[in-house]
Amino acid sequence: MKLIKPCLLAITALLFVNCTAQKKISSLKDVYKKDFYIGTALSANQIEQKDAKVNSLICKEFNAITAENIMKSMFIHPQKDKYDFALTDKFVAYGKKNKMYIHGHTLIWHSQLAPWMTQIKDSTEMKAFMKDHITTIVSKYKGRIDSWDVVNEALNEDGTLRKSVFLNTLGEQYLIDAFKLAAAADPKTDLYYNDYNNEEPAKREGTINLIKKIKAAGGKVDGVGIQAHWRLESPSLEEIEKSILAYSAIGVKVAFTELDITVLPNPWDLKGADVNQNFEGSAKMNPYPESLPDSVQEKLAQRYSDIFKLFLKHKDKISRVTFWGVYDGQSWLNDWPIKGRTNYPLLFDTQLKPKKAYNALIDLKK
Ligand code: XIL
Repeated sequence: MKLIKPCLLAITALLFVNCTAQKKISSLKDVYKKDFYIGTALSANQIEQKDAKVNSLICKEFNAITAENIMKSMFIHPQKDKYDFALTDKFVAYGKKNKMYIHGHTLIWHSQLAPWMTQIKDSTEMKAFMKDHITTIVSKYKGRIDSWDVVNEALNEDGTLRKSVFLNTLGEQYLIDAFKLAAAADPKTDLYYNDYNNEEPAKREGTINLIKKIKAAGGKVDGVGIQAHWRLESPSLEEIEKSILAYSAIGVKVAFTELDITVLPNPWDLKGADVNQNFEGSAKMNPYPESLPDSVQEKLAQRYSDIFKLFLKHKDKISRVTFWGVYDGQSWLNDWPIKGRTNYPLLFDTQLKPKKAYNALIDLKK
């Protein structure tokens, strides 16, 4: 009898490999439970649970989700009078079923726009578009999506406003309108301004001014998203820390929303994550097509460890840390800024095995 019971338990655990059954095994989301959410971006296939192994890894390690693409305007609102909620409904249902924090990405962004949106010519048309787009999407998921990136990447590197169809038609008022519309559609969801390189001094200043302006005009901004598409050597921990402190000093939560760390060379000194920039590939630019040398694996682990040490120091100011993808094989950094490279920016390898970087983050909490 004594032997049968543990056997039965083990068999039952194997039969029900889902988010609940895996609770006892140590995982990122469990060890950081008291600190901040640990999130991941989900591809369309992952939302549809096409691969059982990947799905069980997602359930085990993460308690927050962002849709990598399907909530962007070109997918969710492909034509003026047509919304496509088929996958976004599945995404929200997935998060709810697994009791995850659900983040919406993104309402107003100049990239991955539906072609018809780029044709919007004047302020009347743009106002009507913004009202319809934001109100329809945010109200549809009212009470079910925990936070939204209301505006993504509105700033240039020097902190000035980026030229876009939104700025061209409405001027800076579009930012205020966007936050007001989102708050009106769901007053309880947290509203974020999200960008890359906003841990660098000039863009940080621009971000702070922008948030202050929106708030002064009566908009609600609950948080700032630092995308965190970072490199092994930069940005410095000092700038990251200054940013956490500066943003939290103006009363907003700080989230790291798209964390990944490239290990590949970048001769153009390309910083940031402008998805419209692309470069021709060459063997020199793809030095680790088969596997990552141990020395670089160590560097990556050390870099993640240093960053998370800092995050833990300021855990009271940080709401969420989300990785941009589940494992290396699916990372967008295999195709950006050069197509067809092999990058190693995440915590799980192509075989879904935890890397040294993963162990380093678990060890930090021991
Ligand atoms: C990326 C996706 O990962 C890719 O699949 C897609 O082809 C382009 O966009 N900043 C953002 C994200 O806010 O939405 C981008 O995601 C990466 C940069």
